[in-house]
Amino acid sequence: MFDAATARQLRRTDFPPDFRWGCSTSSYQIEGAVGEDGRGESIWDRFCAQPGHIRDGSSGAVACDHYHRWPEDLDLARSLGVNAYRFSIAWPRIQPSGRGPALEAGLDFYERLIDGMLERGLQPWATLYHWDLPQALQDQGGWAERRTVDAFVDYAGLVVRRLGDRVRHWITHNEPWCTAFLGHAEGCHAPGLKDFGAAIQVCHHLLLSHGLAVPVIRQACPGAQVGITLSLHPIHAASDSPADQAAVQRHDGLRNRWFLDPLHGHGYPADTLALLGKLAPQVAPGDLAAIATRTDFLGINYYFPEEVADAPGQGVLRTRVVEREGVERTAFGWEVSPEGMVTLLARVQRDYTPGPIYLTENGSTWDDTLGPDGQVHDTQRLDYLARHLAAAREAMRQGVLLKGYFAWSLLDNFEWAEGYTRRFGLTYVDYPTQRRLLKDSGQWYARFLHA
Ligand code: FCB
Repeated sequence: MFDAATARQLRRTDFPPDFRWGCSTSSYQIEGAVGEDGRGESIWDRFCAQPGHIRDGSSGAVACDHYHRWPEDLDLARSLGVNAYRFSIAWPRIQPSGRGPALEAGLDFYERLIDGMLERGLQPWATLYHWDLPQALQDQGGWAERRTVDAFVDYAGLVVRRLGDRVRHWITHNEPWCTAFLGHAEGCHAPGLKDFGAAIQVCHHLLLSHGLAVPVIRQACPGAQVGITLSLHPIHAASDSPADQAAVQRHDGLRNRWFLDPLHGHGYPADTLALLGKLAPQVAPGDLAAIATRTDFLGINYYFPEEVADAPGQGVLRTRVVEREGVERTAFGWEVSPEGMVTLLARVQRDYTPGPIYLTENGSTWDDTLGPDGQVHDTQRLDYLARHLAAAREAMRQGVLLKGYFAWSLLDNFEWAEGYTRRFGLTYVDYPTQRRLLKDSGQWYARFLHA
Protein backbone atom coordinates (compact mmCIF):
# COMPACT_ATOMS: atom_id res chain seq x y z
CA MET A 1 0.00 0.00 0.00
CA PHE A 2 1.13 3.54 -0.69
CA ASP A 3 3.75 2.63 -3.24
CA ALA A 4 5.37 5.63 -4.84
CA ALA A 5 4.28 4.97 -8.42
CA THR A 6 0.60 4.82 -7.48
CA ALA A 7 0.89 7.74 -5.09
CA ARG A 8 2.38 9.92 -7.81
CA GLN A 9 -0.83 9.41 -9.82
CA LEU A 10 -2.82 11.14 -7.11
CA ARG A 11 -4.71 14.26 -8.14
CA ARG A 12 -5.77 17.29 -6.23
CA THR A 13 -9.33 16.52 -7.28
CA ASP A 14 -9.09 13.30 -5.27
CA PHE A 15 -9.45 15.62 -2.27
CA PRO A 16 -12.47 17.77 -1.42
CA PRO A 17 -12.43 21.25 -2.98
CA ASP A 18 -12.31 22.93 0.43
CA PHE A 19 -9.23 20.96 1.54
CA ARG A 20 -6.47 23.34 2.78
CA TRP A 21 -3.11 23.01 1.09
CA GLY A 22 -0.15 24.60 2.76
CA CYS A 23 3.45 24.60 3.78
CA SER A 24 4.99 25.38 7.16
CA THR A 25 7.93 27.25 8.63
CA SER A 26 8.87 28.65 12.03
CA SER A 27 10.39 31.93 13.10
CA TYR A 28 13.73 30.91 14.61
CA GLN A 29 14.39 28.40 11.85
CA ILE A 30 14.14 30.90 8.99
CA GLU A 31 14.07 34.53 10.05
CA GLY A 32 17.64 35.34 11.10
CA ALA A 33 18.00 39.05 11.95
CA VAL A 34 18.16 38.14 15.61
CA GLY A 35 19.56 41.51 16.63
CA GLU A 36 17.29 43.68 14.55
CA ASP A 37 14.50 46.10 15.39
CA GLY A 38 14.76 45.54 19.11
CA ARG A 39 14.24 41.77 19.15
CA GLY A 40 15.21 40.34 22.53
CA GLU A 41 17.36 37.30 23.12
CA SER A 42 15.58 33.95 22.90
CA ILE A 43 16.47 30.69 24.61
CA TRP A 44 17.64 29.38 21.25
CA ASP A 45 20.14 32.24 20.80
CA ARG A 46 21.57 31.39 24.21
CA PHE A 47 21.50 27.63 23.67
CA CYS A 48 23.25 27.86 20.29
CA ALA A 49 25.98 30.07 21.74
CA GLN A 50 26.99 27.34 24.18
CA PRO A 51 29.51 24.96 22.58
CA GLY A 52 28.47 21.41 21.82
CA HIS A 53 24.76 22.02 21.53
CA ILE A 54 24.41 22.35 17.77
CA ARG A 55 25.91 19.68 15.56
CA ASP A 56 27.60 22.11 13.15
CA GLY A 57 28.17 24.83 15.73
CA SER A 58 25.72 27.10 13.96
CA SER A 59 22.71 29.11 15.08
CA GLY A 60 19.62 30.77 13.65
CA ALA A 61 21.36 34.17 13.65
CA VAL A 62 21.10 34.40 9.86
CA ALA A 63 19.21 31.23 8.90
CA CYS A 64 17.35 31.87 5.63
CA ASP A 65 17.44 35.63 6.16
CA HIS A 66 13.68 35.46 5.76
CA TYR A 67 13.32 38.64 7.83
CA HIS A 68 14.64 40.50 4.80
CA ARG A 69 13.74 38.11 2.01
CA TRP A 70 10.14 37.34 2.93
CA PRO A 71 8.59 38.77 -0.26
CA GLU A 72 10.63 36.32 -2.32
CA ASP A 73 9.71 33.48 0.04
CA LEU A 74 6.01 34.26 -0.15
CA ASP A 75 6.31 34.39 -3.94
CA LEU A 76 7.79 30.91 -3.74
CA ALA A 77 4.91 29.70 -1.59
CA ARG A 78 2.48 31.14 -4.08
CA SER A 79 4.30 29.48 -6.96
CA LEU A 80 3.76 26.14 -5.22
CA GLY A 81 0.04 26.73 -5.49
CA VAL A 82 -0.66 26.37 -1.78
CA ASN A 83 -3.56 28.37 -0.39
CA ALA A 84 -2.32 28.50 3.20
CA TYR A 85 0.96 29.31 4.88
CA ARG A 86 1.83 28.34 8.43
CA PHE A 87 4.45 30.47 10.15
CA SER A 88 5.26 31.39 13.72
CA ILE A 89 5.66 34.60 15.62
CA ALA A 90 8.86 35.19 17.54
CA TRP A 91 7.82 36.19 21.05
CA PRO A 92 11.12 38.11 21.59
CA ARG A 93 10.27 40.38 18.65
CA ILE A 94 7.00 41.32 20.37
CA GLN A 95 8.18 41.47 23.99
CA PRO A 96 11.99 41.45 24.14
CA SER A 97 11.95 40.53 27.82
CA GLY A 98 8.79 38.45 27.66
CA ARG A 99 6.67 40.98 29.54
CA GLY A 100 5.45 44.53 29.15
CA PRO A 101 4.17 46.51 26.19
CA ALA A 102 4.47 45.21 22.65
CA LEU A 103 7.29 46.43 20.47
CA GLU A 104 5.72 48.18 17.50
CA ALA A 105 8.54 47.20 15.14
CA GLY A 106 7.90 43.54 15.86
CA LEU A 107 4.18 43.76 15.26
CA ASP A 108 4.83 45.84 12.13
CA PHE A 109 7.04 43.12 10.70
CA TYR A 110 4.36 40.48 11.10
CA GLU A 111 1.70 42.83 9.82
CA ARG A 112 3.69 43.35 6.60
CA LEU A 113 4.36 39.63 6.33
CA ILE A 114 0.68 38.78 6.78
CA ASP A 115 -0.43 41.43 4.31
CA GLY A 116 2.04 39.85 1.90
CA MET A 117 0.33 36.50 2.39
CA LEU A 118 -3.12 37.94 1.86
CA GLU A 119 -2.01 39.73 -1.32
CA ARG A 120 -0.79 36.39 -2.66
CA GLY A 121 -3.91 34.42 -1.76
CA LEU A 122 -2.22 32.60 1.12
CA GLN A 123 -4.38 32.09 4.19
CA PRO A 124 -2.19 32.90 7.20
CA TRP A 125 -1.92 30.25 9.93
CA ALA A 126 -0.02 31.76 12.83
CA THR A 127 1.64 29.73 15.57
CA LEU A 128 2.22 31.76 18.72
CA TYR A 129 4.90 29.56 20.23
CA HIS A 130 7.32 27.54 18.14
CA TRP A 131 9.99 27.24 20.82
CA ASP A 132 11.66 30.68 20.92
CA LEU A 133 10.96 31.78 24.49
CA PRO A 134 12.43 35.14 25.53
CA GLN A 135 15.60 34.35 27.48
CA ALA A 136 14.55 36.83 30.19
CA LEU A 137 11.63 34.55 31.03
CA GLN A 138 13.93 31.55 31.15
CA ASP A 139 16.12 33.46 33.60
CA GLN A 140 13.04 33.60 35.85
CA GLY A 141 12.45 29.85 35.57
CA GLY A 142 10.86 29.60 32.13
CA TRP A 143 8.06 27.12 31.50
CA ALA A 144 8.73 25.33 34.78
CA GLU A 145 7.33 28.44 36.50
CA ARG A 146 3.60 29.04 36.56
CA ARG A 147 4.15 32.76 36.02
CA THR A 148 5.23 32.02 32.45
CA VAL A 149 1.66 30.86 31.77
CA ASP A 150 0.36 34.36 32.52
CA ALA A 151 3.13 35.90 30.45
CA PHE A 152 2.14 33.74 27.47
CA VAL A 153 -1.53 34.65 27.78
CA ASP A 154 -0.60 38.36 27.86
CA TYR A 155 1.64 37.93 24.84
CA ALA A 156 -1.11 36.08 22.96
CA GLY A 157 -3.51 38.94 23.67
CA LEU A 158 -1.04 41.57 22.45
CA VAL A 159 -0.44 39.72 19.21
CA VAL A 160 -4.01 38.81 18.43
CA ARG A 161 -5.39 42.25 19.27
CA ARG A 162 -3.08 43.69 16.65
CA LEU A 163 -3.09 40.96 13.99
CA GLY A 164 -6.48 39.36 14.57
CA ASP A 165 -8.13 41.58 11.97
CA ARG A 166 -6.21 39.71 9.27
CA VAL A 167 -5.35 36.31 10.76
CA ARG A 168 -8.23 33.95 11.58
CA HIS A 169 -6.26 30.74 12.18
CA TRP A 170 -4.29 30.60 15.40
CA ILE A 171 -2.19 27.79 16.83
CA THR A 172 -1.16 28.32 20.43
CA HIS A 173 1.73 25.85 20.75
CA ASN A 174 3.81 23.75 18.43
CA GLU A 175 4.60 20.29 19.81
CA PRO A 176 4.52 20.76 23.58
CA TRP A 177 6.08 17.28 23.97
CA CYS A 178 9.26 18.58 22.32
CA THR A 179 9.37 21.80 24.32
CA ALA A 180 8.97 19.84 27.52
CA PHE A 181 11.03 16.69 27.02
CA LEU A 182 13.68 17.64 24.48
CA GLY A 183 14.18 20.98 26.22
CA HIS A 184 13.87 20.01 29.88
CA ALA A 185 14.49 16.25 30.23
CA GLU A 186 16.84 15.22 27.41
CA GLY A 187 18.44 18.65 27.22
CA CYS A 188 19.14 18.44 23.50
CA HIS A 189 16.94 21.47 22.80
CA ALA A 190 16.84 24.87 24.51
CA PRO A 191 16.93 25.57 27.38
CA GLY A 192 19.02 22.40 27.67
CA LEU A 193 17.86 21.18 31.08
CA LYS A 194 17.95 17.55 32.23
CA ASP A 195 15.25 17.29 34.85
CA PHE A 196 12.43 14.87 34.07
CA GLY A 197 10.24 16.14 36.89
CA ALA A 198 10.57 19.71 35.62
CA ALA A 199 9.63 18.52 32.13
CA ILE A 200 6.38 17.10 33.51
CA GLN A 201 5.54 20.40 35.15
CA VAL A 202 6.48 22.21 31.93
CA CYS A 203 3.93 20.07 30.04
CA HIS A 204 1.25 21.16 32.42
CA HIS A 205 2.13 24.84 32.09
CA LEU A 206 2.23 24.62 28.31
CA LEU A 207 -1.19 22.99 28.19
CA LEU A 208 -2.57 25.43 30.72
CA SER A 209 -1.23 28.42 28.82
CA HIS A 210 -2.89 27.02 25.70
CA GLY A 211 -6.24 26.64 27.45
CA LEU A 212 -6.13 30.08 29.04
CA ALA A 213 -5.10 31.73 25.78
CA VAL A 214 -8.00 30.28 23.77
CA PRO A 215 -10.72 32.63 25.12
CA VAL A 216 -8.31 35.59 24.96
CA ILE A 217 -7.67 34.87 21.29
CA ARG A 218 -11.38 34.47 20.61
CA GLN A 219 -12.16 37.74 22.32
CA ALA A 220 -9.54 39.63 20.36
CA CYS A 221 -10.45 37.97 17.09
CA PRO A 222 -14.14 37.28 16.59
CA GLY A 223 -14.55 34.27 14.34
CA ALA A 224 -11.08 32.99 15.21
CA GLN A 225 -10.30 29.34 14.57
CA VAL A 226 -8.04 28.29 17.44
CA GLY A 227 -6.15 25.06 17.93
CA ILE A 228 -2.96 23.48 19.20
CA THR A 229 -0.42 21.39 17.30
CA LEU A 230 0.80 18.11 18.80
CA SER A 231 3.55 15.81 17.60
CA LEU A 232 1.96 12.36 17.70
CA HIS A 233 3.29 8.90 16.94
CA PRO A 234 1.76 5.51 16.33
CA ILE A 235 3.54 3.13 18.70
CA HIS A 236 4.24 -0.52 18.14
CA ALA A 237 5.64 -3.26 20.33
CA ALA A 238 9.06 -4.68 19.51
CA SER A 239 7.63 -8.17 19.93
CA ASP A 240 4.42 -10.03 20.75
CA SER A 241 5.51 -10.56 24.32
CA PRO A 242 3.07 -9.29 26.94
CA ALA A 243 5.92 -7.26 28.45
CA ASP A 244 6.54 -5.36 25.23
CA GLN A 245 2.79 -4.87 24.71
CA ALA A 246 2.59 -3.33 28.16
CA ALA A 247 5.54 -1.10 27.28
CA VAL A 248 3.53 0.30 24.36
CA GLN A 249 0.80 1.33 26.75
CA ARG A 250 3.26 3.10 29.05
CA HIS A 251 5.10 4.86 26.23
CA ASP A 252 1.87 5.93 24.56
CA GLY A 253 0.71 7.37 27.87
CA LEU A 254 3.36 10.06 27.93
CA ARG A 255 3.96 10.47 24.20
CA ASN A 256 0.35 10.84 23.05
CA ARG A 257 -2.35 10.51 25.71
CA TRP A 258 -0.62 12.89 28.13
CA PHE A 259 -1.65 15.67 25.74
CA LEU A 260 -4.69 14.30 23.96
CA ASP A 261 -6.55 13.23 27.11
CA PRO A 262 -6.53 16.51 29.05
CA LEU A 263 -7.19 18.55 25.89
CA HIS A 264 -10.31 16.47 25.32
CA GLY A 265 -11.62 16.72 28.85
CA HIS A 266 -10.40 13.39 30.26
CA GLY A 267 -7.72 14.78 32.56
CA TYR A 268 -4.26 13.23 32.72
CA PRO A 269 -4.22 9.47 32.05
CA ALA A 270 -4.46 7.56 35.33
CA ASP A 271 -1.95 4.90 34.32
CA THR A 272 0.69 7.52 33.50
CA LEU A 273 -0.03 9.46 36.68
CA ALA A 274 0.49 6.26 38.65
CA LEU A 275 3.84 5.65 36.96
CA LEU A 276 4.94 9.22 37.65
CA GLY A 277 4.11 8.98 41.33
CA LYS A 278 5.72 11.93 43.10
CA LEU A 279 6.73 13.43 39.76
CA ALA A 280 3.08 14.04 38.82
CA PRO A 281 2.48 17.70 37.98
CA GLN A 282 1.08 20.23 40.40
CA VAL A 283 -2.40 20.97 39.12
CA ALA A 284 -4.43 23.80 40.64
CA PRO A 285 -8.23 23.71 40.83
CA GLY A 286 -9.68 24.78 37.50
CA ASP A 287 -6.57 23.95 35.47
CA LEU A 288 -7.99 20.85 33.84
CA ALA A 289 -11.19 22.64 32.88
CA ALA A 290 -9.11 25.41 31.30
CA ILE A 291 -6.98 22.91 29.36
CA ALA A 292 -10.14 21.25 28.06
CA THR A 293 -11.51 24.51 26.64
CA ARG A 294 -13.14 23.66 23.34
CA THR A 295 -10.94 24.37 20.31
CA ASP A 296 -11.83 24.63 16.64
CA PHE A 297 -9.34 22.15 15.26
CA LEU A 298 -6.50 19.86 16.22
CA GLY A 299 -3.12 20.25 14.51
CA ILE A 300 -1.08 17.08 14.16
CA ASN A 301 2.55 16.93 13.11
CA TYR A 302 3.30 13.47 11.81
CA TYR A 303 6.79 12.24 11.04
CA PHE A 304 7.36 8.66 12.17
CA PRO A 305 6.10 5.69 14.18
CA GLU A 306 7.95 4.38 17.20
CA GLU A 307 8.69 0.86 18.32
CA VAL A 308 9.23 0.19 21.99
CA ALA A 309 10.36 -2.62 24.22
CA ASP A 310 10.05 -3.33 27.90
CA ALA A 311 13.14 -2.05 29.71
CA PRO A 312 13.02 -2.79 33.42
CA GLY A 313 14.82 -0.17 35.43
CA GLN A 314 14.98 2.30 32.59
CA GLY A 315 13.42 5.59 33.62
CA VAL A 316 9.96 6.15 34.96
CA LEU A 317 8.33 4.51 31.94
CA ARG A 318 10.61 1.43 31.95
CA THR A 319 10.58 1.42 28.15
CA ARG A 320 13.17 1.68 25.44
CA VAL A 321 12.70 2.87 21.87
CA VAL A 322 14.18 0.30 19.51
CA GLU A 323 15.27 0.68 15.91
CA ARG A 324 13.33 -1.74 13.78
CA GLU A 325 15.54 -3.55 11.25
CA GLY A 326 14.92 -3.49 7.54
CA VAL A 327 12.61 -0.49 7.36
CA GLU A 328 12.99 2.55 5.19
CA ARG A 329 14.48 5.54 7.02
CA THR A 330 15.15 9.17 6.18
CA ALA A 331 18.63 10.65 6.53
CA PHE A 332 17.64 11.50 10.10
CA GLY A 333 16.96 7.82 10.79
CA TRP A 334 13.23 8.41 11.11
CA GLU A 335 11.17 5.47 9.87
CA VAL A 336 9.15 6.20 6.75
CA SER A 337 5.61 4.95 7.28
CA PRO A 338 2.63 6.42 5.47
CA GLU A 339 0.63 3.48 6.87
CA GLY A 340 1.56 4.70 10.34
CA MET A 341 -0.01 8.03 9.56
CA VAL A 342 -3.31 6.37 8.68
CA THR A 343 -3.21 4.32 11.88
CA LEU A 344 -2.47 7.39 13.94
CA LEU A 345 -5.15 9.60 12.39
CA ALA A 346 -7.77 6.86 12.62
CA ARG A 347 -6.90 6.32 16.27
CA VAL A 348 -7.19 10.02 17.14
CA GLN A 349 -10.50 10.24 15.30
CA ARG A 350 -11.86 7.12 17.03
CA ASP A 351 -10.65 7.85 20.55
CA TYR A 352 -11.19 11.61 20.69
CA THR A 353 -13.43 12.85 17.81
CA PRO A 354 -11.54 16.14 18.01
CA GLY A 355 -13.43 17.96 15.24
CA PRO A 356 -11.47 19.10 12.18
CA ILE A 357 -7.91 17.78 12.03
CA TYR A 358 -5.10 19.45 10.09
CA LEU A 359 -1.75 17.88 9.39
CA THR A 360 0.23 20.99 10.30
CA GLU A 361 3.60 19.37 9.52
CA ASN A 362 4.81 16.36 7.59
CA GLY A 363 8.05 16.04 5.69
CA SER A 364 11.44 14.38 5.43
CA THR A 365 15.15 15.10 5.31
CA TRP A 366 17.58 13.62 2.79
CA ASP A 367 21.14 14.34 1.79
CA ASP A 368 20.23 16.71 -1.03
CA THR A 369 22.86 17.75 -3.50
CA LEU A 370 22.84 20.30 -6.22
CA GLY A 371 23.26 18.26 -9.40
CA PRO A 372 25.52 19.11 -12.37
CA ASP A 373 22.37 20.34 -14.12
CA GLY A 374 21.85 22.85 -11.31
CA GLN A 375 18.79 21.02 -10.00
CA VAL A 376 18.03 19.06 -6.83
CA HIS A 377 16.57 15.69 -7.80
CA ASP A 378 15.16 14.75 -4.40
CA THR A 379 13.23 11.71 -5.54
CA GLN A 380 12.99 10.32 -2.03
CA ARG A 381 11.35 13.49 -0.67
CA LEU A 382 8.99 13.60 -3.64
CA ASP A 383 7.95 9.99 -2.98
CA TYR A 384 7.62 10.64 0.74
CA LEU A 385 5.31 13.56 0.00
CA ALA A 386 3.19 11.72 -2.56
CA ARG A 387 2.90 8.62 -0.37
CA HIS A 388 1.83 10.65 2.66
CA LEU A 389 -0.77 12.47 0.59
CA ALA A 390 -2.08 9.06 -0.46
CA ALA A 391 -2.16 8.13 3.23
CA ALA A 392 -4.03 11.33 4.04
CA ARG A 393 -6.65 10.45 1.48
CA GLU A 394 -6.93 6.92 2.83
CA ALA A 395 -7.43 8.28 6.34
CA MET A 396 -10.27 10.45 5.06
CA ARG A 397 -11.78 7.44 3.35
CA GLN A 398 -11.74 5.71 6.72
CA GLY A 399 -13.72 8.57 8.23
CA VAL A 400 -11.02 10.87 9.61
CA LEU A 401 -12.17 14.49 9.56
CA LEU A 402 -8.95 15.67 7.92
CA LYS A 403 -9.28 19.17 6.49
CA GLY A 404 -5.81 20.16 5.36
CA TYR A 405 -2.15 19.30 4.85
CA PHE A 406 0.90 21.51 5.45
CA ALA A 407 4.22 20.28 4.12
CA TRP A 408 7.28 20.80 6.26
CA SER A 409 8.93 22.87 4.99
CA LEU A 410 8.79 25.64 2.42
CA LEU A 411 12.55 26.13 2.79
CA ASP A 412 15.60 24.25 3.99
CA ASN A 413 16.27 25.84 7.35
CA PHE A 414 17.96 25.73 10.74
CA GLU A 415 17.02 22.29 12.03
CA TRP A 416 17.52 22.94 15.77
CA ALA A 417 20.26 20.78 17.33
CA GLU A 418 21.16 19.50 13.85
CA GLY A 419 21.92 23.01 12.62
CA TYR A 420 22.04 23.23 8.84
CA THR A 421 23.00 19.58 8.36
CA ARG A 422 19.40 18.51 7.78
CA ARG A 423 17.45 19.80 4.83
CA PHE A 424 13.66 19.47 5.00
CA GLY A 425 12.70 22.03 2.35
CA LEU A 426 10.69 21.74 -0.83
CA THR A 427 13.05 24.57 -1.73
CA TYR A 428 16.83 24.24 -1.61
CA VAL A 429 18.59 27.10 0.12
CA ASP A 430 22.20 27.78 -0.83
CA TYR A 431 23.16 29.38 2.47
CA PRO A 432 26.29 31.31 1.34
CA THR A 433 24.34 33.13 -1.38
CA GLN A 434 20.81 32.71 0.06
CA ARG A 435 19.69 31.62 -3.38
CA ARG A 436 16.46 29.59 -3.37
CA LEU A 437 15.78 26.76 -5.80
CA LEU A 438 12.67 24.65 -6.00
CA LYS A 439 13.60 20.97 -5.67
CA ASP A 440 11.93 18.25 -7.72
CA SER A 441 9.63 17.61 -4.74
CA GLY A 442 8.53 21.24 -4.74
CA GLN A 443 7.97 21.14 -8.48
CA TRP A 444 5.87 17.99 -8.09
CA TYR A 445 3.80 19.59 -5.30
CA ALA A 446 3.25 22.62 -7.53
CA ARG A 447 2.15 20.47 -10.49
CA PHE A 448 -0.14 18.50 -8.18
CA LEU A 449 -1.68 21.67 -6.78
CA HIS A 450 -1.99 23.52 -10.10
CA ALA A 451 -3.49 20.61 -12.03
C1 FCB B 1 9.20 19.27 14.09
C2 FCB B 1 9.31 20.75 14.38
C3 FCB B 1 9.81 21.56 13.21
C4 FCB B 1 10.90 20.85 12.44
C5 FCB B 1 10.46 19.46 12.10
C6 FCB B 1 11.47 18.69 11.27
O1 FCB B 1 9.30 18.55 15.27
O2 FCB B 1 8.06 21.25 14.76
O3 FCB B 1 10.21 22.81 13.69
O4 FCB B 1 12.06 20.88 13.16
O5 FCB B 1 10.19 18.73 13.27
